[in-house]
Amino acid sequence: MLNKFSKSFLWGASSAAYQVEGAWNEDGKGKSVWDNFSKIPGKTFEGTNGDVAVDHYHRFKEDVQLMAELGLKAYRFSVAWSRIYPEGRGKLNKKGLEFYEKLVDELIKNNIEPVLTLYHWDLPQALQDLYGGFESRDIIDDFENYCVTLFKAFKDKVKYWVTFNEQNVFTNLGYRCAVHPPGLKDVKRYYEANHIVNLANAKAIKAFRKYVPNGKIGPSFGMGPVYPLDCKPLNVLAADEAEEYFNHWWLDVYCFGKYPTITLNRLKKLNVAPKVTEEDLKLLKEGKPDFIGLNYYHGGTAMENDNVISVDINKKDPYLVENSEKYKVFKSVPNPFLKKTQWNWEIDPDGLRIALKRLTNRYDLPILITENGIGAVDVLEENDTVNDDYRIDYLKEHIFACKKAIDEGVDLIGYLPWSFTDLLSWLNGYKKRYGFIYVNRDEYSEKDLRRIRKKSFYWYKDVIKSNGEIVEGEKNEVY
Ligand code: BG6
Repeated sequence: MLNKFSKSFLWGASSAAYQVEGAWNEDGKGKSVWDNFSKIPGKTFEGTNGDVAVDHYHRFKEDVQLMAELGLKAYRFSVAWSRIYPEGRGKLNKKGLEFYEKLVDELIKNNIEPVLTLYHWDLPQALQDLYGGFESRDIIDDFENYCVTLFKAFKDKVKYWVTFNEQNVFTNLGYRCAVHPPGLKDVKRYYEANHIVNLANAKAIKAFRKYVPNGKIGPSFGMGPVYPLDCKPLNVLAADEAEEYFNHWWLDVYCFGKYPTITLNRLKKLNVAPKVTEEDLKLLKEGKPDFIGLNYYHGGTAMENDNVISVDINKKDPYLVENSEKYKVFKSVPNPFLKKTQWNWEIDPDGLRIALKRLTNRYDLPILITENGIGAVDVLEENDTVNDDYRIDYLKEHIFACKKAIDEGVDLIGYLPWSFTDLLSWLNGYKKRYGFIYVNRDEYSEKDLRRIRKKSFYWYKDVIKSNGEIVEGEKNEVY
């Protein structure tokens, strides 16, 4: 018999401001980089943007009622920095703060623990214009100031806080692949900006200790554990390199206050390593988290790069995903054992267990799963039904992986799948849906934005009610 989920386990669901709120220019909100970027032709799927999104800003009470009906113990949402400080700094917008006060109060009234993310990718455009956003160290103080405003406002109401959502993803897509704002492809600037985010993260955590001494804070990291293709030593080496590069490069900084030696050394040789001062290292060490927020979708598989001739100094990016396969220190390959989603993402519940165990063994911190889920084309059928059995299967297997990991000693404090309602996918519009609640809109029309409970809603309700007991694995499964 496996150990049970604890009585205080946080069964929940997640969202992010830009993807649900809408009301992009209401009540004094300033523009975010996504308000601009999504309107550049060709940048998003069918030109979708978050101007209206799923209108959570106006419908939050209805949404919280649905959360209560589902039995959620926790709800993760993010605050839009540009609602609080329209210019990113300077004058506070009281109306913006009021929206989140009302949301938090509504959650608490319904016995739902708010989990507040401070940054989920919607940087105030004014700061991008003023000093280049995360490319300037000025942002460290501005971010701290914005965080302290929220710390003071919610210190008695919000216990769980997330600093940055998937720093690894937004820096990579924004500074190296040019598919998110600020739309750059520059490896040196990428590592520099990423380092500045690390400093902003540490400084915010340091301030948190002063203002919210009883709270818990940590980043949400998009982790995919890496497997070697097979036991050929050079493939194992490739997987080690990839694990260090994709995961430890961020997690070691968060939890140990230092970059992993081998990767840092490689970047130094290529002259693309970030500038790290003694003072930076001191700050990083002072900004360690209370828990690791884990966003898990899938892992990866690596093999030696048999094309390697030498690392091309001019390209200066031994890890670049596109164009330079032959210069990479490892090669990413598909995993022959795994099925895939409609978007070609591998489905790998064991990978979640592996991630949880690797995190525990290396960092020994509590873990809060802040995202996990399956993006799919859901079909609205007759009588307002959505038969998303594939989502139930996916979540069931992942929750069972959590159960096994807990039994093995992982300190898992909650599971907040992505997402509560359907919402805007940054690059896939409303076609790729994740929610327990279907929202009646698409890329072409806002329709009536009606909320419709999917089959997975009723299933997850039973899971929560039984505190995870109804989730079981195969009878003969070895664990
Ligand atoms: C995570 C993000 O990377 O993945 C979410 O934190 C995002 O904001 C989610 O929506 C799913 O990504 P996608 O591209 O399938 O919408």
